[in-house]
Amino acid sequence: MDFSFDINKLFREEITLIDNRLQPCRQHGIDRYGFQQLQKMLYEVVDKMGDASAKAQGLHGSITTGKKLELANHHLYLMIDGSGNDGKGSALGILKVGRKKLFVYDSLKVQHELDPLCILDFYVHESRQRMGCGRRLFDFMLSKENIRVEHLAIDRPSPKFLSFLKKHYGLDSTIPQVNNFVIFQNFFSNRNDGRGRRNITPGGFADQVSPKRPSSGKVILLLPI
Ligand code: COA
Repeated sequence: MDFSFDINKLFREEITLIDNRLQPCRQHGIDRYGFQQLQKMLYEVVDKMGDASAKAQGLHGSITTGKKLELANHHLYLMIDGSGNDGKGSALGILKVGRKKLFVYDSLKVQHELDPLCILDFYVHESRQRMGCGRRLFDFMLSKENIRVEHLAIDRPSPKFLSFLKKHYGLDSTIPQVNNFVIFQNFFSNRNDGRGRRNITPGGFADQVSPKRPSSGKVILLLPI
């Protein structure tokens, strides 16, 4: 996606992590007004890429805008081709992730309360799809967030995204959920973010970490002596 301004002034690398401060990269000798102008451009790039993503997914409104990013504790990875648009740079893709509190079922249908890292938006510009940009963006995010792909929860993945996950990461077999999020086998294996995790078993509510049901149905009664 091309813009009337030089986006290389905003992004120095092929992939940039943008957080809720929405700060363009540091420029030498820039005054407050100059900084505000750059920030305005940054919002425009994020908003336009968010719009294009929503359109590509057939959504009514954008999931990703500068304003929404400001208000949430999400990370947006933005990919550019610095040489595109006659050297002014082109925006190629976005990938938004963030933690959400979710109730998720494991394969034994036991529900867990977790705050996994979720894929919230993912888009590569139509002119660059199926050329490996999505893979580069996704791998960059996995490494920055220090997370394994099977530990992610994905908000309403499109058929293209499901095909992407199967092709590049061998993710195929899902664990059925009742919400819009999709998780895959091994989601519960070797997690290191189980803080405050609780199981909500069909028979009640138990504070505990293991995703497994108790192996036996034995009940231990404590009687007064
Ligand atoms: N139809 C089916 N699968 C597609 C596809 C399409 N039009 N475009 C990409 N894929 C999947 C395929 O598995 C493909 O491998 P193949 O070409 O051998 O079939 C693989 O992705 C290509 O990987 P890569 O080039 O790294 O991905 P990408 O740069 O095309 O980015 C998406 C992948 C999903 C981000 C991109 O297709 C896109 O933006 N789609 C529209 C928006 C969307 O659906 N986003 C997901 C939100 S839930």
